[in-house]
Amino acid sequence: ITVGLIYGGKSTEYEVSLRSAKSVLDEIDKDKYNIRLIHVLKDGTWRTTTELSEIDLENSDAETLYIVPGNQFKTDKGPVSIDVMLPVLHGTYGEDGNVQGAFNSAGVAFVGCNTRSSAIAMDKDITKRLLTLAGIDVARGIVLNDYECDTCSFTDASEKLGTPMFIKPANQGSSVGVFKVVDEKEYNHALSEAFKFDTKVLIEEAIVGREIEVSVLGNEELFISVPGEIVSNVDFYDYESKYLTDDGATLMIPAEITEDEKIKIQDVAYRTFKTLDCEGFSRVDVFLTETGQVLVNEINTLPGFTSISMYPKLIEVSGISYRELLDELIHLALN
Ligand code: DAL
Ligand code: MG
Repeated sequence: ITVGLIYGGKSTEYEVSLRSAKSVLDEIDKDKYNIRLIHVLKDGTWRTTTELSEIDLENSDAETLYIVPGNQFKTDKGPVSIDVMLPVLHGTYGEDGNVQGAFNSAGVAFVGCNTRSSAIAMDKDITKRLLTLAGIDVARGIVLNDYECDTCSFTDASEKLGTPMFIKPANQGSSVGVFKVVDEKEYNHALSEAFKFDTKVLIEEAIVGREIEVSVLGNEELFISVPGEIVSNVDFYDYESKYLTDDGATLMIPAEITEDEKIKIQDVAYRTFKTLDCEGFSRVDVFLTETGQVLVNEINTLPGFTSISMYPKLIEVSGISYRELLDELIHLALN
């Protein structure tokens, strides 16, 4: 089986993807699979090699990979055939349905969510509306498009949502462009920054609660992991505390919660995955409040995938190693 390990991407989460891909390349069973590396450069072009030594191909003499609609891929040297694509891409173009659509056009199988569910899950506004229709709780918020960005003042928003508030681009990951604000100055600054990343921005109430994450694996039949908790050592678990500092947060696996809370959270994760029509895998992030309410914050269809990331760690405590998880994801994509 030839696996196309595709990573990098035209996304603010490019560096995060490189880390995820390094772990996959280290761990994947190379006796079982031929690996073709595909590095999506920041400009969106694809470079490929079957040399497995270095995940960062930017300076190598890797070849450009082209999509041949209906007939897979080619380089200047000839056709390239891949049995299954393993996208380890986060954020725009990689997690939002764009690359999944390209795989469909090429006629190649791929791991994870389909085009539609990827696109929906990437958009926090549309996700919240669908979850609300399904009776799943989410944080209250206001949605602003860039053409109406001056229609909601700090006073309007804080009267409705209280303070602090969170301001976030609708389509981003890893907390890029997300701000916690308490006053008008911060509010106005955050709005203009968030609009640099997207034409649609969410203003949300701050939920006082624990940050709990659940891994979901499967197509029709789902495996739901035990919940894990992000115990943040900072005021807000932002990009820096996620990736740039060692002590930004601790992952508590499993989360220390009651059996009832666990069952409730797993049920919410299951229904979230099903409501959005997800496939393969996703990580569902929720808040657990003091009164026991479970609110979905977001669903990540291509969650962080280093060997110490929450998604594989939660699967691992259930007895499925990182290597077996990769086997299972490939199996799910081919069946
Ligand atoms: N967006 C990052 C990679 C995550 O959700 O883990
Ligand atoms: Mg999250």
